[in-house]
Amino acid sequence: MNNFFIRPKITVCTSAEEFCLSYNIGSGDLVFVSEGTRRRNFANAFAGALVVDYRKYVVGEPTDIMIEDISRIIGSQKISRIFAIGGGTILDAAKLFALKQNIPVDKLFNGEILPQKDKKLFLIPTTCGTGSEVTDISILELTKNKTKLGLANEALFADEAILIPELLQNLPYKFFAASSMDALIHAVESYTSPKATEFTRIFSAAAIEKIISGYKLITSEGKKVIPSLLRDFLTASTYAGIAFGNAGCAAVHALSYPLGAARHVPHGEANYAFFIEVYKTYASIRQDGSFELLKQFLAKLLACTPNNVLAELETLLENIIQRKTLHEYGVIEEELPRYTGIVMEKQGRLMSNNYVPLNRDKVLGIYQKLF
Ligand SMILES: [Fe+2]
Repeated sequence: MNNFFIRPKITVCTSAEEFCLSYNIGSGDLVFVSEGTRRRNFANAFAGALVVDYRKYVVGEPTDIMIEDISRIIGSQKISRIFAIGGGTILDAAKLFALKQNIPVDKLFNGEILPQKDKKLFLIPTTCGTGSEVTDISILELTKNKTKLGLANEALFADEAILIPELLQNLPYKFFAASSMDALIHAVESYTSPKATEFTRIFSAAAIEKIISGYKLITSEGKKVIPSLLRDFLTASTYAGIAFGNAGCAAVHALSYPLGAARHVPHGEANYAFFIEVYKTYASIRQDGSFELLKQFLAKLLACTPNNVLAELETLLENIIQRKTLHEYGVIEEELPRYTGIVMEKQGRLMSNNYVPLNRDKVLGIYQKLF
């Protein structure tokens, strides 16, 4: 038996102004927004609300320390609605603030604290990658464990995901590239997940199609953000979120988390470092079922034969982000068995969604090949 659900309600606003008029944010509201986004898009908004510039509390990827620091700032203030405007970092973090109790964070993540939602939550993405606005997953680096872990629980669903393409206008190319690569990988990993269904594959495939067609345009026009693509990429990212929220992500994400946590590599870029090699490894074991379907689908989009899709995809993606080797990120070879241990022992949630099971030797082999 399997279930398919689309939660939360999804609203598209044509502009930041329309959003402000519709939601009337003020007293009793908590708004997470960076100073830059606020200045550019919400200059005269949020009067009376508690506004937190989360960038003051985080450098790069979100951690348990960031959650605990912000919790102290909020203190005992009465909050009934939370609006989070930003990338995956802040959307994931905001999900934890909608809970009755979120600290100590390690107890929430290890199950000692049961997640209970007691505030309304509105998530507004400003990147086109995480799909966090439609998932019940929060990913954090737990600093004691030195890896990223995901907490998945129904209490983490937002009440509303609000898409405002205008907010992506000032996204620098490198963030656009890394976040959209993350969305593409969500779509592909969920497509080949054993939990995928006819329903999830519709969303995976639609996301893959939009992103690949956008990447082809970027390849022909040079490395830049093309404004006419923003709405499509934001939609694709939400589609991919719906797909992986139901079918899950897998080994690409699992292998990238130790790198992201240890070397502070942006999430989408860290995923890209492993993407093609994980699929080459799958292909060396088996290529039937969902892998065969994926090959046929990609072959049409990339105008190549099914057996050539991984090479063609890699060529296209290298135009968007240039893959670095692990040692270029500062990884030392002795760390690879530790990374492998983290993947095998702590990332079971993701590794259970692999197209085919990958054992310790295969995982270490991927790390060594990419070193
Ligand atoms: Fe991701």
